[in-house]
Amino acid sequence: MKVTVIGAGNVGATAAECVARLDVAQEVVMVDIKEGMPQGKALDMMESGPIHGFDTRITGTNDYGPTENSDVCIITAGLPRSPGMSRDDLLAKNTEIVGGVTEQFVEGSPDSTIIVVANPLDVMTYVAYEASGFPTHRVMGMAGVLDTGRFRAFIADALDVSIRDVQALLMGGHGDTMVPLPRYTTVGGIPVTQLLDDDTIDNIVERTKGAGGEIVDLMGTSAWYAPGAAAAEMTEAILKDNKRILPCAAYCDGAYDLHDLFIGVPVKLGTDGVEEIIEVELSSDERDSLEASAEHVHGNLEDLERLREEGEIG
Ligand SMILES: NC(=O)c1ccc[n+]([C@@H]2O[C@H](COP(=O)([O-])OP(=O)(O)OC[C@H]3O[C@@H](n4cnc5c(N)ncnc54)[C@H](O)[C@@H]3O)[C@@H](O)[C@H]2O)c1
Repeated sequence: MKVTVIGAGNVGATAAECVARLDVAQEVVMVDIKEGMPQGKALDMMESGPIHGFDTRITGTNDYGPTENSDVCIITAGLPRSPGMSRDDLLAKNTEIVGGVTEQFVEGSPDSTIIVVANPLDVMTYVAYEASGFPTHRVMGMAGVLDTGRFRAFIADALDVSIRDVQALLMGGHGDTMVPLPRYTTVGGIPVTQLLDDDTIDNIVERTKGAGGEIVDLMGTSAWYAPGAAAAEMTEAILKDNKRILPCAAYCDGAYDLHDLFIGVPVKLGTDGVEEIIEVELSSDERDSLEASAEHVHGNLEDLERLREEGEIG
C-alpha cells in the first residue's frame, strides 16, 4: 500500500505522519514544490519511526516519479486562510494548484483514490474530479470527519465524558453553511438531545460552524492537527476496506435531491472509495439547511465557471 500526500505543508506533513503512525501503508510519499522541504520533513519523520514503532517508509520529492502506483492520494497543496479570509477567497489560486497537481499525479497512479483537503473544499474536490478523469466514487473531499471531530470534542467537553463515546453526524458544505445534526448525535448510544439543553446544543453547533475561523484568529493561519488526522482516518478506511460510515464530500447526483456537486454526506468508505451514500431522514428544517448549503456550493461552482470564462483560471 502506497500513499501520496501532495503539499507537505502543515496539513500535508501532519497527514503523512498520522498515516505512518497508523502503520497502514508500506510507503508514504510527500510531494511539494519547495525544494528540500518534503525531503527534510520525510527524513525527520522516518527518524521518529523507531520511537513511535512504525515501519512505514516515508520519502519526500519535488516530482511525481516516486508517487507512481499509489493507492491513495491526499491533496493538501494550496494556500491556507489568513485572518479575515473566507475559504471561498482561495478559489482562483487553489483551482490552478489543485487542477495542476491532480493531472500530474494521476498519470502514474490511474487506479488510485483521491482525498482532497485544499479549500474551498467542495469546489476543489470537483476540480480534482474533473482533472483526474476518475469515476466519482474514487474522488472525495475531507471536511466532515474534521467538522464532526470538532463537534464531538465540544460535546464531550460540555458533558465531561470520554470523546470515544460521542458519535455525531454533520452534513453540507465545508464552511459556515455546514449542517451539524444533533438529532443524529449520540453519547454512549443516548441522543445528545436528552443530555444537553437546547441552548447549550445551539451554542455548540454555532461554535462548530466557526471552529476553523476560531483557530485562524488565534494562530493567523488555519488548523492542521485535526485536519491531518481526519485525512489519515479516511485513508485508513480505504486501505483497510473498513467500510466505515463517515461524513465525506461525495459526488451527489440525485442523493438528497442534490445534483452535480460534491458535498458532505454520510458515506460507506472502503477499497472502492465512496461505496455508498447513506440517505438519512431529514426534518424540513434540516433539509432546508442542507439545500441552502448546496446552493452556496453551487454558487462557488458558478464563480469557478465565470473565472474560467474570463480567462482568470487556465
Ligand atoms: N478540508 C479541510 O477541512 C481543511 C482544513 C485545514 C486546511 N485546509 C486547506 O488545506 C490547504 C493546505 O493548508 P496548509 O495549512 O497545509 O497550508 P501550507 O501553506 O502549510 O501548505 C501548503 C503546501 O502546499 C505546497 N504547494 C503549493 N503549490 C503546490 C504545488 N503546485 N505542488 C505541490 N505543492 C504545492 C506549498 O509549498 C505548501 O508547502 C489549504 O487550502 C487550507 O485551506 C482544509
